[in-house]
Amino acid sequence: MSLELPAEIFYGGDYNPEQWSREVWHEDMRLMREAGVNLVTLGVFSWTNLETSEGHYDFGWLDEIFDLLHENGIGVDLATATASPPAWLTKAHPELLPVNAAGTRLAHGGRQGYCVSSPIYKRKAAELASELVKRYGSHPALKMWHINNEYGCHNPLCFCEVSAENWRIWLKEKYETLDALNRAWGTNFWSQRYHQWDEINPPRQTPDGTFPNPTQMLDYRRFSSDQILDLYLAEKAAIRAVDTIHPITTNFMSMKHSMNIDYWRWASEVDFVATDHYLIAEDPENYIDLAFQADLTRGFASGKPWLLMEHSTSAVNWQERNLAKADGEMLCNSLTHVARGSNGSMFFQWRASVSGSEKYHSAMVPHAGEDSRIFRNVKQLGEELQKLTEIAAHPTEKAQVAMVFDYQSWWALAQRNLPTTSIDYPELAHDWYRALWKLGVRVDFVSPDASPLVLAQYRAVLMPMTYMLSEQQERKFAEYVSQGGSLVASYFTGISNLDDTVKLGGYGGALVRESLGVLVEEFAPVRQTERVLLSNGAFGTEWAEFAKATTAEVVATYQDGVSAGSAAIAKKERSWYIGTRLDEASLMSFFDDFSLELQLEKRGGNGVEVIRRGSYEFAIDHTQKTFVWSQIND
Ligand code: GLA
Repeated sequence: MSLELPAEIFYGGDYNPEQWSREVWHEDMRLMREAGVNLVTLGVFSWTNLETSEGHYDFGWLDEIFDLLHENGIGVDLATATASPPAWLTKAHPELLPVNAAGTRLAHGGRQGYCVSSPIYKRKAAELASELVKRYGSHPALKMWHINNEYGCHNPLCFCEVSAENWRIWLKEKYETLDALNRAWGTNFWSQRYHQWDEINPPRQTPDGTFPNPTQMLDYRRFSSDQILDLYLAEKAAIRAVDTIHPITTNFMSMKHSMNIDYWRWASEVDFVATDHYLIAEDPENYIDLAFQADLTRGFASGKPWLLMEHSTSAVNWQERNLAKADGEMLCNSLTHVARGSNGSMFFQWRASVSGSEKYHSAMVPHAGEDSRIFRNVKQLGEELQKLTEIAAHPTEKAQVAMVFDYQSWWALAQRNLPTTSIDYPELAHDWYRALWKLGVRVDFVSPDASPLVLAQYRAVLMPMTYMLSEQQERKFAEYVSQGGSLVASYFTGISNLDDTVKLGGYGGALVRESLGVLVEEFAPVRQTERVLLSNGAFGTEWAEFAKATTAEVVATYQDGVSAGSAAIAKKERSWYIGTRLDEASLMSFFDDFSLELQLEKRGGNGVEVIRRGSYEFAIDHTQKTFVWSQIND
């Protein structure tokens, strides 16, 4: 068996048999077979049922389920069960519970209640992973390992004393000297200069109306993402010490506002990329966010197949209004993921719970039972996926355009003392993606550290608000432009280096000044209720600037507002600079011209997406909630 995602199409979901009687287990097997389920994720939240007190393990029920699944031809994605520590552990070691920025230690009772720097949690989690691999590592039903669950979902940052100690170690490794740290953080401001390492604390809550040092905050996010990665690596090492044949992964979260983990950094540590995606129910075009997240996930996987580990058959139970999916919607969602590179469609969860916090979350087997709309859809999807098994070995067709997506910039843009609080990094990236999606232009995602070779595969690279760029990154993108690549950068791109120190001599640094030929002198944010008219009839919101084209040609100037007459959109050779947040119609017209000029391939549009994977072409009509797929020859 290889350490990659097997070339199969997986179908199933989280299975929590500990919530049910043995009688139900047998019914589950029958229904799983009927639905075509071939993989279930076991044990995500089972720690307390597997280790009932320190060092006392009860694997009896899991042994039984493993065998039952195997007899029924169903594979297991085995979770290490470490997502939520049991009450006996937090009672014995309350110091492993997380502490928030205000200094309050949070209580046991929800989930993911642990400090990401806790050595006790880390040791106990690795021990459990170790016990599980010894017991199930060679079970014939085992297909893959699923470490923890959605790391960083509820406990991304902990502010306790143990975290503070680890933080100082991390800082010493990064900066070596206090002088270097003081320089990077700009501590000669507000009397923040440090003279001893132990004066430095996590960026805890500061007096009202003030903010923690922005670079300290940024570093704390980097540190926390690294601490969480260390937890993952400790469990991974425990498994690898025994099982060298099954692939190991953890489920990422691909949700519009899940920003806590730098998945570009994590992607190389998983044997294959897996993710969870939930629709934003209130968004009538939420299938575009789905496409965005699936494409981003394929980016983490470097274009290779990945696995959708969770989504929902219908409503979730954690949004304001949990809308049910329309007929056909769940099938369209699943096939969009498959077309965009997922080797299957997995759900949270197999059978809807009758108690606990998620009892109103939809499942593959709903409360209504098998004679239900949902279960009929589930069976239909199972049949559809069985016809697509051959696709699993093939990647999704490469796009001609790449968008840079940068967690580091996102983190820096999360500070609250920016020129406008209207700044929302993922929103701008979504604006651009949505316009291209509607035009039928596909987009791949790349990291700001993508190699020149990777960039060279694309006709255009988009940089919506890539706020931080190191000199090296700046040079790489400049080179891409000088070699004939087309770059589209927005306002607030290339503003600071990776320490969040502003570059002088025109905002946007050398990239905006030289490669794009624009000198940005001053920002001029727009009132929330207003928009600015541009000379080409377009409208901008949120942001305007005092800027002039030096070596670029002006495409549009601001017609009103304080910066009237300044360059709003500029073009130099095949690259563009956009100095405002264009509204949807203006953005579509911009990208329409852009795709015409670059002669980009267009397929679908108007609510229909057309995607090719291997020799298959999928046409998914989100307005009608219907799909067709066919084999193509070209
Ligand atoms: C996440 C978790 C699951 C479940 C679902 C509900 O993805 O991993 O355990 O809570 O959300 O939507």
